[in-house]
Amino acid sequence: MFLFNETSPSDEELRGASAELLRSYYAAKASINPNIVPPSVPSTIPKVFADTVAQQGESTALMAVSEYQGMLQNFFVGLIGAKRVLEIGSFTGSSAIFFANALKRNGVAGGLGASGHKPVIGLDISERYANIARKNFVNAGVEDYVDIIVGDARANLASLEGQVFDIVFLDADKPSYQYYYDTVIEKGIVAKSGLIIADNTAFDCTTPFIGLPAPVPNSAKPLEVTFRKFPDSDELGKTIHEFNEYVRHDPRTEVLMLPLYTGITLIRLLDG
Ligand SMILES: C[S@@+](CC[C@H](N)C(=O)[O-])C[C@H]1O[C@@H](n2cnc3c(N)ncnc32)[C@H](O)[C@@H]1O
Repeated sequence: MFLFNETSPSDEELRGASAELLRSYYAAKASINPNIVPPSVPSTIPKVFADTVAQQGESTALMAVSEYQGMLQNFFVGLIGAKRVLEIGSFTGSSAIFFANALKRNGVAGGLGASGHKPVIGLDISERYANIARKNFVNAGVEDYVDIIVGDARANLASLEGQVFDIVFLDADKPSYQYYYDTVIEKGIVAKSGLIIADNTAFDCTTPFIGLPAPVPNSAKPLEVTFRKFPDSDELGKTIHEFNEYVRHDPRTEVLMLPLYTGITLIRLLDG
């Protein structure tokens, strides 16, 4: 719950506020001080969001990562010294702009690398969203940093075998998360020292399923592609719950869910 939605409170109003109020403010806004925009927030991000609201409507626009989440992703790029990022689900480009900007700020060169691709690859099924994203990359000055590959990511992921990414961001269709997760691990698409970030892993609709049995790695069938329509909220909750249980029981990885927004799961490979 974010209590500061419309206006930024002044320092005087924040001083002495309850810790709960203060935390909700930190989580809702990119900066502790509303007058300071952190350097990790690209200057065009507010416009990308405003344009997306205007063109797609607010509820659809909310699919974009928030500034705070973008800053978090930015921080991870610097922390692990990422050079390449794979994003599954790019929409109108917000998270890709954050990743690209972070790589640029960390001295990674743009343009085509040895793989024939730019440092960030985004996969999205929508040509329309991809075209909007590409324009947003130009406006953000990161067009040399991002390639969008249009099509079903379940099919296109296989074509990336042989390429290695330091960060893989899962933010497309939730029923395919487990497939994406298994594929990037089993095909070596995520670096051994890399990070998988899965978004929306604590959606409200998951709560009815907490504690219910779900497939765990030794009973699941990795790499089996099943094409499923986008689920209703019951199915969505179940599918996210199953993904959470799957990764939580997976001996290959260490998992930490950040209880921010609709849940952000961080996953890293364990040795061996
Ligand atoms: C939550 S949005 C991504 C938001 C984006 N990361 C951002 O910050 O703006 C999900 C995206 O996944 C895409 N998508 C859904 N199913 C897909 C699939 N099977 N393959 C590739 N993209 C898919 C949608 O077109 C949509 O743009």
